[in-house]
Amino acid sequence: MRVRFVAGNWKMNTNRAQARALAEAIVAGAGAIPETVRLAIMPPFVYLEAVREVLGNGRVALGAQDVYSEPEGAYTGEVSAAMLVDVGCRYVIVGHSERRHILKEDDALVNRKLRAALAAGLDPILCIGETLDERERGLTLSVCERHVRSGLSGVGPDQMARVTIAYEPVWAIGTGRTATPEQAQEVHAEVRSILRTIYGQPIASAVCIQYGGSVKPENAGELMSQPDVDGALVGGASLKADSFLAIARAASRRSA
Ligand code: PGA
Repeated sequence: MRVRFVAGNWKMNTNRAQARALAEAIVAGAGAIPETVRLAIMPPFVYLEAVREVLGNGRVALGAQDVYSEPEGAYTGEVSAAMLVDVGCRYVIVGHSERRHILKEDDALVNRKLRAALAAGLDPILCIGETLDERERGLTLSVCERHVRSGLSGVGPDQMARVTIAYEPVWAIGTGRTATPEQAQEVHAEVRSILRTIYGQPIASAVCIQYGGSVKPENAGELMSQPDVDGALVGGASLKADSFLAIARAASRRSA
């Protein structure tokens, strides 16, 4: 059975006290979530250590929202994968659409970041997804295929067990507009079939593919009832412990 995985991307939100309080509330409720669901939260870089103190080595893992592609050196403002491991991260998001579109990251940089994360021992979450314009022009599947193939370039089959893919249609992120379960399933199934052509059936069927984009307690169950939707990457709704935990519970019902 594929792992279920719900991760909270806090983006550029919270202050130190709020970050700790949110992590505490999530930890307090996480004990009631079945172990079949993997949980992680991604606070801003500067609060990673504070949140790490709250999480300890418990049920909820720590992740970062981004990483730089180089191991060290003169890259002002950047953070390396080894630094993230050093402060207790297990996961890192790469290729989030806000970084692709606002910060102009291209496919080649996303791929270098993903490989740097793997090399340092982090488990990357590779975000893929089309813009509204691309969807309206019928380019959804080709854009997602490009993101998958270029993002995973040079990643071996043994490393794929550590990679999660998050399908996040750009038009659904932070907009309150969610892909329908059928729209999500169509892309997830296509991604899995691309993975099958690259890595073969056993690996493709084991890869966790999260959906992201305005996931909330009200729609999480329906999205995750789709056969290839294995979890959620949650932005806005992860800033409230109750809604994040409700989404995690929905993931556990899927795995029941
Ligand atoms: P959202 O963000 O849930 O606020 O739409 C999702 C994401 O960007 O990962």
